[in-house]
Amino acid sequence: MNMCGIVGYVGSKGAKTVVFEGLKTLEYRGYDSAGIAVNNSKITVVKDVGFVEKLEPHLSQLPASGNAIGHTRWATHGVPNQVNAHPHTDMKVNVVAVHNGIIENFMLLKQNLKDGGVEFKSDTDTEVIPQLLSIELNEAEPFTAFKKVIEKLEGSYAILVMIKGDHRIFFARNHSPLVIGKGEDGRGENLIASDVVAFLKHTKQAIFVKDGDVGYIDGKNIHIEVDNQKVGREITEIEWSAKDAMKDGYPHFMLKEIYEQPDAVKNTLLDARIDEFAHKLDDGLEIVAAGTSYHAGLAFQYASNMKCRLIISSEFSALYRGGSVLAISQSGETADTLQAVRAAEKRGEKIYSIVNVNGSTLTRISDQVVHTHAGPEIGVAATKTFTTQLAVLYAVDAALKGNPKPTFDLAPAIALDGDMKALAKELTKTSELFYIGRGPSAATAREGALKLKELAYLHAEAYEGGELKHGPLALIEDGVPIIAICPNDTHKKKMMGNIEEVKARGAKVFVFGEQGDKELEHLSDKFYGLPKIKEEYSPMTYVIPLQLLAYHTAVLLGKNPDKPRNLAKSVTVE
Ligand code: G6P
Repeated sequence: MNMCGIVGYVGSKGAKTVVFEGLKTLEYRGYDSAGIAVNNSKITVVKDVGFVEKLEPHLSQLPASGNAIGHTRWATHGVPNQVNAHPHTDMKVNVVAVHNGIIENFMLLKQNLKDGGVEFKSDTDTEVIPQLLSIELNEAEPFTAFKKVIEKLEGSYAILVMIKGDHRIFFARNHSPLVIGKGEDGRGENLIASDVVAFLKHTKQAIFVKDGDVGYIDGKNIHIEVDNQKVGREITEIEWSAKDAMKDGYPHFMLKEIYEQPDAVKNTLLDARIDEFAHKLDDGLEIVAAGTSYHAGLAFQYASNMKCRLIISSEFSALYRGGSVLAISQSGETADTLQAVRAAEKRGEKIYSIVNVNGSTLTRISDQVVHTHAGPEIGVAATKTFTTQLAVLYAVDAALKGNPKPTFDLAPAIALDGDMKALAKELTKTSELFYIGRGPSAATAREGALKLKELAYLHAEAYEGGELKHGPLALIEDGVPIIAICPNDTHKKKMMGNIEEVKARGAKVFVFGEQGDKELEHLSDKFYGLPKIKEEYSPMTYVIPLQLLAYHTAVLLGKNPDKPRNLAKSVTVE
């Protein structure tokens, strides 16, 4: 259960509601089932399959006061059903746990417990935690017993546990995100969650839990231990506001986040540390990233003169030949990217990173970090974090070339919203389409196709314009839609040739080019104009209508663009 969200609350505000609301903000982490447990005089658990909202009708079964923990799940061990949903308890319901991660040695632990007569309800790895703790509690006081259980676990985890008759929430972390929200003084409350967005409404004071930490929170105390020694941890003041994590009148987070791009990019470019960061990067750099972040790396390769190589995170071990590493990641928690970075770190190489989430694992294992100042991105599909990654990368490129920091006007791209809604209608009638581009626009095409695939579930392929003739052209027949990205750059003439090729085979061509480009307009079935932009920066503006197109196509097809099926925002499994 590795891409799950967990939340815990101790305090007097109505724990079940605080946890329920917190889970809703964490749904981007996984959403196939959810559950909440409340601990007052006894432990009560509710859970259901589906989105977090499905819990609402069950909330009345939970007591109004007490501590609470909750979970939103993305299944890895055991199918997504009610029994496998968290929280999990021991047989006597004296202990209840939620867990994000994978207990790798759970089979062995489970077998030993079964041999000792313990009965299991679920197929999950997590259930061993409350079952083991229940037994340890016969021998030791709660915190000691909890630590003993944690010592037995191998794998990755962020765990929250409550014990009947105890006023604390116990926690432990290893390779899964966990952060404490320190309640405002005097209120007698503390929170803990996978991500700060779950508690921003209540506090902005965060303490990032580290790998190997075990501890507990109650109304007054935050207690953390490493190797049985109490440790102090600094408090980080979170800049994001609770409003940033709300839809704010938009029908979906994704649309809101698309519209936030002009400000997000501007804020990111204000970061004065980019220059210094750029000058630390050396030739021979290996750039590592996954998904949309990989596409940002691709766009950078077209812009930059650096001798660098781009590697998909999950392929890193096969391709890495040494040298310092630049990791690009929205979440800073993507397992594929982290394992790549850790491999380089072990060799003593320098680690640089571009990350959106402050305090994330990647930021802690990097020698130097630049943040994208996009604010929280809740929609699963990356939008504003992509353009802010581009902003950092283009500013890095400018610094290295001795050029002034670039600026971007994204408003005209967003103004294509209405046109993209109309084009989306066309796409709902198709099951397959192609995105083509050359040079930097090849990166734009890939990102555009990825957005459409993940949100609208349409089979969209991206190709470099010149590659069509080496195979994909065989697929072009009457009426196949082609999205052609064709800014007025050095590749335009050749791209026009590629457009002719597909047109000759009956394709319907939708072209994105520079405003007022008559010859392109003439060549297109439909033409969409964007302002002039420097060749190497064109993905910054050209990707925006493609984000809008994917968004509207998904909505018209009745899909929820914020929560595409089978996907999660932060993928913490390799
Ligand atoms: C997941 C998300 C993608 C994202 C990728 C990399 O697959 O669904 O939107 O691009 O992870 O995530 P990162 O947080 O490392 O940028």
